[in-house]
Amino acid sequence: MTDTNKTAGQTAVVPAQGRPTEERDVLLDVQGLVKHFPIKKGILQRQVAAVRAVDGIDFQVRRGETLGVVGESGCGKSTMGRVITRLQEPTGGSIAFEGQDITHLKTGGMRPLRRDIQMIFQDPYGSLNPRHTIGSIVSAPFRLQGETPEGGVKKEVQRLLELVGLNPEHYNRYPHEFSGGQRQRIGIARALALKPKLVVADEPVSALDVSIQAQVVNLLDDLQDELGLTYVIIAHDLSVIRHVSDRIAVMYLGKIVELADRDDLYATPMHPYTKALLSAVPVPDPKRRGAKSERILLRGDVPSPINPPAGCRFHTRCWKATDICGKQEPPLLQLGTGHQVACHHPENAADQAPEDTELLSVAKQAIESVTLESPAQSPAEPTAETPKGTSKDE
Ligand SMILES: Nc1ncnc2c1ncn2[C@@H]1O[C@H](COP(=O)(O)OP(=O)(O)OP(=O)(O)O)[C@@H](O)[C@H]1O
Ligand code: SF4
Ligand SMILES: [Mg+2]
Repeated sequence: MTDTNKTAGQTAVVPAQGRPTEERDVLLDVQGLVKHFPIKKGILQRQVAAVRAVDGIDFQVRRGETLGVVGESGCGKSTMGRVITRLQEPTGGSIAFEGQDITHLKTGGMRPLRRDIQMIFQDPYGSLNPRHTIGSIVSAPFRLQGETPEGGVKKEVQRLLELVGLNPEHYNRYPHEFSGGQRQRIGIARALALKPKLVVADEPVSALDVSIQAQVVNLLDDLQDELGLTYVIIAHDLSVIRHVSDRIAVMYLGKIVELADRDDLYATPMHPYTKALLSAVPVPDPKRRGAKSERILLRGDVPSPINPPAGCRFHTRCWKATDICGKQEPPLLQLGTGHQVACHHPENAADQAPEDTELLSVAKQAIESVTLESPAQSPAEPTAETPKGTSKDE
């Protein structure tokens, strides 16, 4: 049973009986998701190892929200995006969309769901076929679904172009005639053609000039309000993620290490990795100029996902690591603060400070503390006066 009726692009939530609100609100439910890429060698192409790109993650996406996903390069964000949209086959775990198990649906089974789940890619150049006109690119989803929209394809494509802020008269132009930001708008128009419920955007603005990023981020925001969309937005830029997200999942080496409401995550990050990521992003605030704050610089690279560290995967870089961290993997647990955190000694939780002070002092060498002169506002403090769309300048 579906809870959503779409009328004229609007989403009306129809209450379903007999189920708790939280369950009704879940659009996508991901449990124990695994994606390994086998590494094969020799004439027989025997599997000798695997890249453990996504290695057991659980999360839910609620109707109408934006779930932001952050983490360093190579931590599995894009793989997660491609697997939940079923562009790649998962190795393990389950994916349910509106209560329907879509984990192993084949192409035919996925076809009706292709309307509901769409993906926007990072590269506005590579993702548009240079030999096709904009009209042909944006109307491709109708051809694939074998459907003619009311009023005809051309009229609908022109409506979509207008919706994303492009001139509908440019229907017959080619991708090379557009700027990067305009091309990304074309990609967005194509993704919205079939009125999807869930849009997964993988680094939707990172290939664009900073001045253009705000416009595209605001467009995504406006479209969400107008069309009742649900987003999963993947980005490594924390200021973009902060601007767009309702909740944020932080990934490290194929795992979700923290998941919390946006404001809670920025105000009181609990996983040491989240804290390190956030502390690397100074937020300019003239009122705090000259104030001092501590910055955590993570040493070294992310370890290989082929052979990730035992126990907590972050223990090789964590300044709070104790004996247990190298031995026992911390599960992702919901704490009283509302955060889901996978850490034996979470930050901002007085009762869970590490006891092994000797080890702690050794582990402290893993980080470097530098005193910032300016700008110096802690990223924990939201900048309420930051106007919409300018957060990337933070
Ligand atoms: N098709 C593939 N075959 C083998 N390994 C892959 C494949 N796709 C991704 N990987 C590996 O999986 C890991 C996760 O990659 P992924 O692209 O998901 O990371 P990411 O978080 O999106 O990084 P970035 O921020 O750089 O985009 C990396 O080690 C990558 O090399
Ligand atoms: S304190 Fe331990 S469990 Fe927590 S992030 Fe550091 S190494 Fe991992
Ligand atoms: Mg990626």
